Amino acid sequence: MSNPTPGIEIIGTGSYGPENIVTNDDLVKLGVDTTDDWVVSRTGIKERRLAADDQAASNLASEAARNALQDAGLDATDIDAIFVATCTPDMWFPSTACFVQDQIGASNAFCMDLSAACSGFVYGMEMVRHWLAGNPGKTVLLIGAEKTSSVVDWTDRTTCVLFGDGAGAVVVRGGGDRRGVLACRLGSEGGLADLLMIPGGGSRAPITKDTVGTQVIKMSGREVFRHAVTKMANLTDNLIAETGLKPDDIALVIPHQANMRIIAAIQDKLQLPDEKMYANVDRFGNTSAASVPIAMDEAARAGRLQPGDLVLLVAFGAGFTWGGCIFEWSKDAPA
Ligand code: ACO
Repeated sequence: MSNPTPGIEIIGTGSYGPENIVTNDDLVKLGVDTTDDWVVSRTGIKERRLAADDQAASNLASEAARNALQDAGLDATDIDAIFVATCTPDMWFPSTACFVQDQIGASNAFCMDLSAACSGFVYGMEMVRHWLAGNPGKTVLLIGAEKTSSVVDWTDRTTCVLFGDGAGAVVVRGGGDRRGVLACRLGSEGGLADLLMIPGGGSRAPITKDTVGTQVIKMSGREVFRHAVTKMANLTDNLIAETGLKPDDIALVIPHQANMRIIAAIQDKLQLPDEKMYANVDRFGNTSAASVPIAMDEAARAGRLQPGDLVLLVAFGAGFTWGGCIFEWSKDAPA
């Protein structure tokens, strides 16, 4: 799917990582049968941040949202819509976005969640730009927020070392004098759902005494890895070809932060130097839908994004879902 509708601007970014930093060695001390060497060599992850017991996804999201609003110089009441991409919502309903609205005081916004697992934020960018195209002059808060620690099986060393908690947010407006989104592609393959899922806890297998314990991440790591590398590398290639650009025209690639080896494979495919790839998976682990906006906020605050720069986002997640877009950055670095 591709539709180069121009004219969105990110006017504010923010992120939040919980205070509790847990290293690989800390996990070993907590009883996980692993080593720092194994985790670093297979994934590049050195540490992750874990939310406190009293922090739900909405609380992480609200912290990121407040930072993004401050960066944009707006009040919460200036926001017309809140979209939260998450696969670890506070509850089945109300939406996490409604909780965020209440927490930050965005009383003029309508609110909804988006479910596309780790691709959720990139899917959200596409939904937001089309909503803004039909509603010129409106302002949207798009958030990726996850408390993955609430769905991790801490006795499964093949998954529990990979994930982390956090949130990232952007304030988006339609219009502006930049080129906006040059290209976007989204895709899904539901036939491969069983390779990465949370099997229990939904309407298919509600929690009963027989299913208790199944509301955790189950993953066929090797196969997910293979699909993630192929899809994300091809997607980046296709997006660049579609726009008639050369890889070198991209100022920064911000990929979903799942595994350093997946990020390296994309870099290799595009033959890009280190300074054109953003990676923070070493410090956050895989924060699912939050990973791209956290990385974007860090990159912006570090001065790695300047007005006029072309940015490429690419993500892959459960479903399977995948998505990527190239857009023009339009704002100055946060003060
Ligand atoms: N510590 C130590 N040993 C481990 C650990 C661990 N944490 N986990 C697995 N092992 C062992 C296995 O038991 C196995 O041992 P065996 O050979 O004695 O049976 C050995 O290491 C190899 O296991 P594999 O699963 O084959 O290891 P692999 O090299 O495939 O790496 C990994 C596993 C890191 C999970 C990799 O498959 C991967 O990164 N997959 C993609 C995961 C991912 O990115 N998921 C999310 C993408 S989509 C999204 O973000 C939702």
